[in-house]
Amino acid sequence: MLSIVLSLGGSILLPEIHQPNIKPYISVLTKISAKYRLFVVVGGGGTARQYISLARTFDADEAFSDELGILVTRLNATLLIGALGERAYPKVVESHTEALCAGESGKIVIMGGITPGQTTDAVAAVLAERVRASLFINLTAVDGIYSADPRKDPKANRYEKMTASDLLEVVVGQHAVAGVNTVMDIVAVKMVERCGIPLLVMDGRDPNLLLETLETGKISGTLVSPKGENPLPFR
Ligand code: UTP
Repeated sequence: MLSIVLSLGGSILLPEIHQPNIKPYISVLTKISAKYRLFVVVGGGGTARQYISLARTFDADEAFSDELGILVTRLNATLLIGALGERAYPKVVESHTEALCAGESGKIVIMGGITPGQTTDAVAAVLAERVRASLFINLTAVDGIYSADPRKDPKANRYEKMTASDLLEVVVGQHAVAGVNTVMDIVAVKMVERCGIPLLVMDGRDPNLLLETLETGKISGTLVSPKGENPLPFR
């Protein structure tokens, strides 16, 4: 069975505690896991940012704020496990090796953050390498990778295809502090460059788009792959 790793941003799954988007994901993740070995890395979303902002008012250092962010990602991951019930491996795994072993259960494996100084995109990228995934998908609140932040710059262009080194150039100017909301963190991009596993960055706000993409191979975000090759649809 082919493996797929999803980086499911907290801003998609649970933008705020009173604004959950978990239910629509249940059936989609269940359908995908019937065909693929599925690993999902859950982000911290607005709640993580709120905790981090609060910690800064106490002059907490950035690494401490990262630890708070990690706890929130694990809290969100626990909620997703609860929502998936028997379909999920019952524990939030805390290392890549643990995820690899949990994958043997055939259940959907859920992870959050693991170590300060990065985001869950980096956790997911290393996981893709570790489980030899056929595809790494980053589900975000933007429909792909742009030359600049499309919410701030109306002239920003969306890339349909690019290599990991092109993406590295895009992210290199970004500022890395706890809770920062960027297209993808630099550690994640470095890992994608290293392992050569195709990465798809796409809008995760409508989970049906994810299903459609896997079934038809029609890509609606940005494909990051060494030679621009589209691995979808898998046959
Ligand atoms: P996220 O991965 O959720 O970051 O981790 P994000 O970019 O805010 O993503 P969305 O909004 O969920 O899509 C939240 C914070 O937790 C810390 C970082 O401070 C990060 O910004 N974190 C997370 C770590 O330090 N290490 C990890 O492995 C994961």
